[in-house]
Amino acid sequence: MEQTNKMEQYELGYHIRPPHGLLNDPNGLVYYKGIYHVFYQWNQTDTTHQSKSWGHMTTKDFIRWETHQPALEPIDWYDRDGCYSGSAVVFEEKMYVFYTGNVRGKNGERKSYQCLAISEDGIHFEKKGPVLEHPIKGYTAHVRDPKVWQGKDGNWWMILGAQKEETLTGDALMYQSTNLIDWSLTGSLMDEPLSLGYMWECPDVLRFDDKDVFAFSPQGLTAEGEKYNNIYQSGYFTGELCDNGKFIRDHQPFKELDYGFEFYAPQTFKDTGGRTILYAWVGVMEPKLEAAVPTRKSGWLHALSIPREVTYEKGKLIQYPIAETTHLRETKSVVSKSIQDESFTLSSLQQDILVEWDAAATDFIIYLRNEIEINYQASNKKITVVRTNWLTNVKEERTTFLTQDLMELRLLIESSMVEIFLNKGEEVFTLRYFTSEMNHSFNFKYLNRKVEKTITGYTLRSFIVKDKS
Ligand code: FRU
Repeated sequence: MEQTNKMEQYELGYHIRPPHGLLNDPNGLVYYKGIYHVFYQWNQTDTTHQSKSWGHMTTKDFIRWETHQPALEPIDWYDRDGCYSGSAVVFEEKMYVFYTGNVRGKNGERKSYQCLAISEDGIHFEKKGPVLEHPIKGYTAHVRDPKVWQGKDGNWWMILGAQKEETLTGDALMYQSTNLIDWSLTGSLMDEPLSLGYMWECPDVLRFDDKDVFAFSPQGLTAEGEKYNNIYQSGYFTGELCDNGKFIRDHQPFKELDYGFEFYAPQTFKDTGGRTILYAWVGVMEPKLEAAVPTRKSGWLHALSIPREVTYEKGKLIQYPIAETTHLRETKSVVSKSIQDESFTLSSLQQDILVEWDAAATDFIIYLRNEIEINYQASNKKITVVRTNWLTNVKEERTTFLTQDLMELRLLIESSMVEIFLNKGEEVFTLRYFTSEMNHSFNFKYLNRKVEKTITGYTLRSFIVKDKS
């Protein structure tokens, strides 16, 4: 087997990763003066969760990117222990960025300030300091991750993740403003008492024509069968956001956005074409597993997901790679229409593979690089993804159930990440994996009845990144 050096072995070509240090949440996603801006939580000096600044990349086409100097650095009294997560909006041709200033006292006690920074060119930011007073009566200092958007009436909303003091349960707080500077609290997003974990991080409100969606990342959910098996989860409620800032949720349970292993802290924004685009951190893991990620030896850790267009269909969010992702396709690497099992050697580890069935898929297993298994059981539309835990070397799996027969499966493969989209985004599994073998195999195996399917694969090019920092 060919031996490559470890750095190349786990490299990511078409996902945003930090040049060095640790990346976590996507921040400040915005389309400003014809350019898409992606910021992210970034520890520039180490692969630990200390000293977060805002890393910054821009693109016009999601293929050619520019890296800029960090937009925000934790150097002021109100953010000296971290410029934590937040969002961006455009107002009077300026970019307004809201974020949480994290400050620790002598004995480690936490203070959170919701802060503003303004930019006139999208590259240089002038910090304006805190815009909100904390703590708020009845809440602990765990209040962070401002997401701001403009309501239909032109007024601005801010939602914050929070923790109730009395019950130590997660909550979301809503604020309103006419000028983005003066904010007044309207209260909890939901009036009903919900006990769903001890803290809600990274809240977001998605607005579609006839539906609103409250997405958030609760910490502290207990695993229940196939649900909530990761350290923290991200998911949503559907419903209606009323003019008074209250969200009336539909009678549907909390639904996870992704059934893989590492997806966390997603954020969305709308572009001028009206698309809702989501990025997430890939991602959150148990500290011991994080410490064992092999890329730490090469000085970097974690990545963002592929940008996904989010739509609302029949009570559910659908997530599918944005159309621009197809521009990463270089050459067709696989084409096969057959009723047989199939085995391929992938020409590279950057692939976009589509499996399409003319009629409902029957039971199968896909083995990717002898490392990842995707197992489908048609009788109950059950889909299971298996990988090896790189700390324990034990196989682990995640499962969910489709509501429709499986007709399409799309795999976005990198050397150490896979995103699996089922039925054009009805369900998604995102995961990292680290195999020491340079195995490039892709095997498709029917388990009983064989039906015709088409497999089309494309080699994907890497981003072209210019450093403008
Ligand atoms: C979510 C989170 C946010 C916080 C940021 C700090 O992963 O904990 O709540 O703002 O990361 O990096």
